[in-house]
Amino acid sequence: MYRSHNCGALNSADINKEVTLAGWVQKSRDKGFMIWVDLRDRYGITQLIFDEQRTDKAVFDKAKSLGREFVIQVKGTVIERESKNPNMATGDIEILVSELNILNEALLPPFTIEDETDGGEDIRMKYRYLDIRRNPVKNSLLFRHKVAMEVRKYLSDLDFCEVETPYLIKSTPEGARDFVVPSRMNEGQFYALPQSPQTFKQLLMVGGMDKYFQIVKCFRDEDLRADRQPEFTQIDCEMAFVEQEDILNVFEGLTRHLLKELKGVDVAQFPRMTYDYAMKTYGNDKPDIRFEMKFGELNAVAQHKDFGVFNSAELVVGIAAPGCASYTRKEIDALIDWVKRPQVGASGMVYVKCEEDGTFKSSVDKFYDQSDLKKWAEATNAKAGDLILVLSGNAHKTRTQLSALRMEVATRLGLRKPDEFAPLWVVDFPLLEWDEESGRYHAMHHPFTSPKPEDMSLIETEPGKVRANAYDMVLNGNEIGGGSIRIHDKALQSRMFSLLGFTPEQAEAQFGFLMNAFQFGAPPHGGLAFGLDRLVAILGGQETIRDFIAFPKNNSGRDVMIDAPSAIDEAQLQELHIKLNISE
Ligand code: AMO
Repeated sequence: MYRSHNCGALNSADINKEVTLAGWVQKSRDKGFMIWVDLRDRYGITQLIFDEQRTDKAVFDKAKSLGREFVIQVKGTVIERESKNPNMATGDIEILVSELNILNEALLPPFTIEDETDGGEDIRMKYRYLDIRRNPVKNSLLFRHKVAMEVRKYLSDLDFCEVETPYLIKSTPEGARDFVVPSRMNEGQFYALPQSPQTFKQLLMVGGMDKYFQIVKCFRDEDLRADRQPEFTQIDCEMAFVEQEDILNVFEGLTRHLLKELKGVDVAQFPRMTYDYAMKTYGNDKPDIRFEMKFGELNAVAQHKDFGVFNSAELVVGIAAPGCASYTRKEIDALIDWVKRPQVGASGMVYVKCEEDGTFKSSVDKFYDQSDLKKWAEATNAKAGDLILVLSGNAHKTRTQLSALRMEVATRLGLRKPDEFAPLWVVDFPLLEWDEESGRYHAMHHPFTSPKPEDMSLIETEPGKVRANAYDMVLNGNEIGGGSIRIHDKALQSRMFSLLGFTPEQAEAQFGFLMNAFQFGAPPHGGLAFGLDRLVAILGGQETIRDFIAFPKNNSGRDVMIDAPSAIDEAQLQELHIKLNISE
């Protein structure tokens, strides 16, 4: 038996017990006649004591040789500590060691294995297995496990069945590039790894599986960000014989359950917002509604004066930053510099201070009098003490810029509280979006999404105006899930592919299997998928998903620990019928 207890288990109730522990040496303090060692495992830290007076000489000498991260096993007696540590579960006791077994020595770790480490991101990624020994990473993985368990329990209780779908498939269009896998047995042919199990879950509905879910890896070759990994995990779900309302209710229930079980937070019914409203009011389709700062459109009250910049703009729009009228010139300049950064791209920013005495002081006092500025305050819902920030220009770009500014101001003001949760649904997404580059429509969600029946008549005349039965779940400014009611009719699905620019032959070659299945009694169906990594990170109070993934990729899509991707040898290439053509 390697251990009788773990390193987080023992307390004063165990005094005088003979125990065996195993773990890693967190640190040791050698006072000459007395050595203390902190022994760590997944469950905690227990203090060991080696005493020249009471410990066998050979054991005592061996203890002197212990280095950080050595793996050891000890036998000893639980005794009361002289100086107790109330901050530790095991802080009342220590183990007077009688036997010490060094199970494995360890090189000096390249960074300290402590909550606050001296290791930078790169080195921690290279030695991820050491990083996982640290509490913040370890706890994130344990938390992820809990979320996954709760999801499985909740959905299974509702009769959802977890079904595995294949990874070696062909392209599923979710808007990213595919990762492809060459086939040795089929020369010149490739599998694509799934961007999602979308088509398979729809086929499961045709197969009568009725309520499906799967906690599943998805693969997308896209540019990486804090909330994106090339391989990530979805909680993928689908139901048959449902309407949008049924889906929203079931998965709102799941999310509410997770918030209650894991965070102790009770959330009332989720607000619902149309895509159009979200874009107009928050400048994006995943608004953070933990705080206000709604957009106020100012065209009517700011144009037709002498300020040329506003007169020539398609949109003049502002937000009221609460309590910021006291900002100094320097603080305001910092915000102006921030919006002018290339990542945001605004050409400038106008501000209005709403003074406590009810007067206004603005950067455009030359053009607007107090009664004009009062109207701006009304439109942006600004109160005395607030600072109105105004951007202008092309409508879409300006909304995006103001949305970024809104988030930045909220961050600076501490309004994005990690322990507050404000979920919502964004509904009524457009079915299609126009892509300037390719000069054609793209599916906003994916090509299997059903148009709203009441908008069907617009498909031929104004396809851009057709709304879809598509929805996103948003939590604290992040899209944590999205889905739709699907097309289950072959003719409509063909029409959709042709709108998206597929020839009938291309549609048949790529998705014939699905359209064929629709002819064999496909039930009405719909579903959604949550991003598990994102959901877990946000519930855990963070927005970077990397620390909630055991072995993540870095920003260039590399696993620096195992050094992947990497070259393969010539024989393997030949077997796969691949000739490389790499320019130097
Ligand atoms: P969608 O593409 O919206 O929908 O993906 C669903 C959710 O997956 C998460 N997600 C990601 N998380 C981490 N890294 C990524 N690269 C990444 N890409 C997406 C997001 C997102 O909301 N088949 C449809 C679902 C459906 O219609 O049922 C789909 O995949 O949180």
